[in-house]
Amino acid sequence: MSNCKSFWGVCSRTLYSCYWKKQKEPNESKQKPCLWFSIVILVTVLALIWMYICLVSSNDQDDVNWKLFTALHLWINWFMVLIILSALLTAYCVFLLLFALIQVFLKEPLNLHCTHKILLLGGIVLIAAGVTGISVVWKEDWLTVLLSLEATAPFLQFGAVGALTLLSKVVFQAIFTTHQKFSRCIIGTAFALVTLLILLWPLCIWSPCFIDKLPPKPELIGHRGAPMLAPENTIMSFNRSVSCGVKAFETDVQLSEDNVPFLMHDHNNSNFLERTTNAKEIFPNKVLNASASLTWAEYQRLNAGEWFVKTDPFRTVSQLSESVKALARNQTIPSLRQLLQLAQEHNISVMFDLYSPDQEHKTVETILDSGIDPSLVLWLPSAERDYVRKRAPQFIQVYDNIAEGNRLNLKYSKISTKKIRELTKNNTRVNLWTVNERWLFSLLWCAGASSVTTNSCHTLKDMEQPDWTIPLKLYKIIWLCVDIGSILIMAVLFAYQWRKDNFPRSGLTTIRRSSLG
Ligand SMILES: *[C@@H]1O[C@H](CO)[C@@H](O)[C@H](O)[C@H]1NC(C)=O
Ligand SMILES: *[C@@H]1O[C@H](CO)[C@@H](O)[C@H](O)[C@H]1NC(C)=O
Repeated sequence: MSNCKSFWGVCSRTLYSCYWKKQKEPNESKQKPCLWFSIVILVTVLALIWMYICLVSSNDQDDVNWKLFTALHLWINWFMVLIILSALLTAYCVFLLLFALIQVFLKEPLNLHCTHKILLLGGIVLIAAGVTGISVVWKEDWLTVLLSLEATAPFLQFGAVGALTLLSKVVFQAIFTTHQKFSRCIIGTAFALVTLLILLWPLCIWSPCFIDKLPPKPELIGHRGAPMLAPENTIMSFNRSVSCGVKAFETDVQLSEDNVPFLMHDHNNSNFLERTTNAKEIFPNKVLNASASLTWAEYQRLNAGEWFVKTDPFRTVSQLSESVKALARNQTIPSLRQLLQLAQEHNISVMFDLYSPDQEHKTVETILDSGIDPSLVLWLPSAERDYVRKRAPQFIQVYDNIAEGNRLNLKYSKISTKKIRELTKNNTRVNLWTVNERWLFSLLWCAGASSVTTNSCHTLKDMEQPDWTIPLKLYKIIWLCVDIGSILIMAVLFAYQWRKDNFPRSGLTTIRRSSLG
C-alpha cells in the first residue's frame, strides 16, 4: 500500500512539479500553490467547455471549412485541426488536474512547475481567442450550443454531480486544514453555492425528448445529394441519396451563358468553380467570375469529381471501393433537366436555391418543359414568387418565414424546438437545414419536425429511434435519486473528515496539514 502510494506520489510530483525528489522546504508562500491549483481547475473547466463547444459545432464543420476555403483559397480540413488542438489542450488540462488531485490526496506539496504555468496561460489565450472568433464571425454557432443543451444537459448534470461528489473530499480536507477562519468561510460558501446550483440545475432543463409518445421520424432531404458519399451536386451524388430513401433532392441552380440551368453551389466569387471543378486547368486564360462566363457546352467539359477524391472533404473517401472512387472521379456538372429526369423517375421532389441574376423565368420554363410532375417541385426562391404562382400553380411554395405560409424551410438554429412542436401540431410542415449529427436529428425528431435537409442521409436513415427519450416524470425521479445519493455521500465524507480532524489517531496527520496552504 505505502509502496503504491509512493509510486503515485513520485509520478504525480514529477509530472506536476517536475521535482523528482521530495522537497524538504517547499517555499509555499512564494509559489502560491493554492492560487495555481485554482487556476488548473479553472483552465480545465474552460477547456472542457471549449471542447464541448467544438464537438457540438461539428454539425456545421463543412460550413466552416467552406467559409475558410472561400477566404483563403486553400482546402485544409480546418475544423479537424481545431478539434485536434482542442482535444490535446483538454487532455493535458485533465491530466494535470488529476495529478494535482493525487498530490492533494497524498498530502504532497502542490508546486506547479513554470512550464505548466506557461502552457496553462497559453491555453487560456487559445480559448479566449476561440470564443472571440466565434462571437465575431460565427455568432449563430452560440444558438447551436444552446440548442445542444436540450440533448445533453441531463447527462451533463449527472456528470457534474459525480465530479462534485468526488471533489468534495478535497474541499472538506481543505476546509478542515485551513486555519484562517476567513478562507474557510470563502471555500465553504463557494462550494455550497456551486453544489446548490448543480443539484437544482434540472429545474431549468427542458428537452423535447422528455416525452411519452414519439412523433414519426422526419423525412430526409439530400443536401446536394449525398455529399459524403459522392461529389456534391452530381448525378452520382443524387443517385446515392436515392438509396437513402430521400423524399427530396436539395440543390443549387445557376444559368450558363446560353441560358441552360445547371447545378453548382459556389457563386458570386471570382473563383466560384475552383473548389469543385478543374476549370482552372481547362480554361487557364478565361476570367471565370460569374455563371455566365461559360456556355453549357463548356461547362460539360469540366470534371466535377476529382476534387472530391483528392480533398476528401468529409473524410469518407477511404470507405469507398475503388470502382466507386473511379465513378466519383468521372463526374461532370449536371444540368437541372438531368436532375428533374432522375426526380421524375423515382418520384422524388426537388428543392433548390437560385444563384444567377434574374433566372426565375428561365428556370420555371425549363421545369415545365421537362415533363416532371409539377407537384414534385418545392419552390423556395422568394423573388418573383407571384409570377411563379401564376405560371406554375401546381408547384408547392415553401417559405423561409413563419408568417408566410404552412410549408417552411428554416435553419435549425433559427427556431426553437418548442415552436417546431407547436407549428407541426397545427399542420405546418417544417423542414430544417442542415442537420448532420445524430444528436441534432434526435432532438428535431422528438420535437416533431417534418423533414430535415442533410449531408449524412446514409447514417440518419439507419436510426430507428432518437438517441434517447424519457418520460418527464421518470427523469424527475432519477434526478432526485442522483441528487439525494450525492448529498448522502458528501455527508459521509464530511463526517469522516470531521472525525479525523477532531480525533486524530496519530500526530502524523497534523504535521503536513498545510498541503493546501
Ligand atoms: C466516364 O463518363 C463517360 C460519360 O460521362 C463515359 O463515357 C466513360 O466511360 C466514363 N469512364 C469511366 C472510367 O467510368
Ligand atoms: C409519388 O409519391 C407521392 C407521395 O410522396 C404519392 O402520393 C404518389 O402516389 C407517388 N406517385 C407515384 C407515381 O408513385
